[in-house]
Amino acid sequence: MSIPVGHVLAASAHSRMEAQVLHGVLAAAGLTPMVPDENLADGWASVQQMANAMAVDIYVPKAEAERAREALASARASRDAVFSEDGVHVRPVRFGIVGAGRIVSGRFVPALQQTERAELRRVATRSPARAADFAATCVSSRYEDVFEDPEVEAVYIATHNGLHHEQALAAMRRGKHVLCEKPLGRNARECRELADVAAASGLLLIEGFMYRSHPQLALVQRLLAEGRIGTLRTVEASFSFMLTRKDDVRLKPEWGGGALLDVGCYCVNFARLFLGDLPRRVTAFAAFDATHGIDTSLSGVLDYGEGRHAVVSCGFDGGTRNRALLSGTEGVLSIPEAFLTQPHENKVVLDSAAGHEEFRVESADAFLLMIESFAAAVRGEAAPHLSAEEGWHNARIMDALLLSARRFGAPVTP
Ligand SMILES: NC(=O)c1ccc[n+]([C@@H]2O[C@H](COP(=O)([O-])OP(=O)(O)OC[C@H]3O[C@@H](n4cnc5c(N)ncnc54)[C@H](OP(=O)(O)O)[C@@H]3O)[C@@H](O)[C@H]2O)c1
Repeated sequence: MSIPVGHVLAASAHSRMEAQVLHGVLAAAGLTPMVPDENLADGWASVQQMANAMAVDIYVPKAEAERAREALASARASRDAVFSEDGVHVRPVRFGIVGAGRIVSGRFVPALQQTERAELRRVATRSPARAADFAATCVSSRYEDVFEDPEVEAVYIATHNGLHHEQALAAMRRGKHVLCEKPLGRNARECRELADVAAASGLLLIEGFMYRSHPQLALVQRLLAEGRIGTLRTVEASFSFMLTRKDDVRLKPEWGGGALLDVGCYCVNFARLFLGDLPRRVTAFAAFDATHGIDTSLSGVLDYGEGRHAVVSCGFDGGTRNRALLSGTEGVLSIPEAFLTQPHENKVVLDSAAGHEEFRVESADAFLLMIESFAAAVRGEAAPHLSAEEGWHNARIMDALLLSARRFGAPVTP
């Protein structure tokens, strides 16, 4: 039996268990399940009602488990659900990784190993020493091997910024979904091209802003929606650290170096989340490295009009900052550990006329949550948590900030 993917499917099931199994498989197969769990007579009536109202196909499995299994196996074949004795599972998304630097071994792979939603199929690294760390999986010395591996469904791009654009293109051209480390590209032109290819191919292309998946952000959004700080006026975001490695790729302009692309991109992304995709104009000042010409620190203002601003500040020539503030007409919300969150308890602080409140946020691994939400989007179970278009908006603002800084603060429209 074949179930056309994309059709809404109404089904009646005899038992609650059968209903649950059907529900899981249909959802995994990208169908919209409507499975009443009453007995057939009641269920059938409500199925007919729903189907008539929605003018959809009706599928009524026989009560026998075998018949249901056939239907489920067919749905499974069309998508990636696994039917086993203990229920229905969605097949893990098979990842390939290009580049095996610090973020891969320190955060991404440990997170990926904790979830059943993803598995590591292949890692490509030019370094034999790093290859040894991944002996348990397929390892290649050529990045192309990841794109060409038919078993790889999604590619995590973790090379330096200068390779993101060409590697994301190479992956999508071979039909792979892409989770690309930030920034998506070195500039708006690269990001526009990537967004176009993603849109034309229907593949997922998501920028690796893992902080977006941290539950503290959902808490902040809830407090804001509840009006706890009144009307939002100003967003402040800062991210900086001291870069001590003299040969670091972050210093190379041709490899997408510079503080804004490295850490300022978080601040811009954060501002956009709360104030909107594009400000009317921006202005910025920066310190530029005398040897390489890249920005070692940058501070800018994004003017969203009607008295709403974002103040962003980033650098790798000073102390560690990793925080954000949302200031409204009736209070201020602060996130002391906003972007680079470690898996430990966090907090969000609210100061308003009502007093000082601290909200505890349970320990969470933002990388793990990002991987799981990416995998859910690959399987069609959830909307992507970020779009490639967003990467383009981010890049437009960063291009404008850099241009303004090179013009000593002259306003620039992104
Ligand atoms: N989301 C986050 O929290 C977070 C944090 C840090 C960094 N990042 C992003 O993740 C990416 C990697 O950062 P990282 O800190 O892991 O950097 P890293 O340790 O310097 O790794 C960069 C990788 O790029 C590859 N590469 C290819 N050509 C290279 C070249 N000519 N020189 C040097 N490396 C080259 C190398 O992979 P192989 O040698 O293995 O082939 C290297 O391991 C960057 O885009 C960065 O912005 C994200």
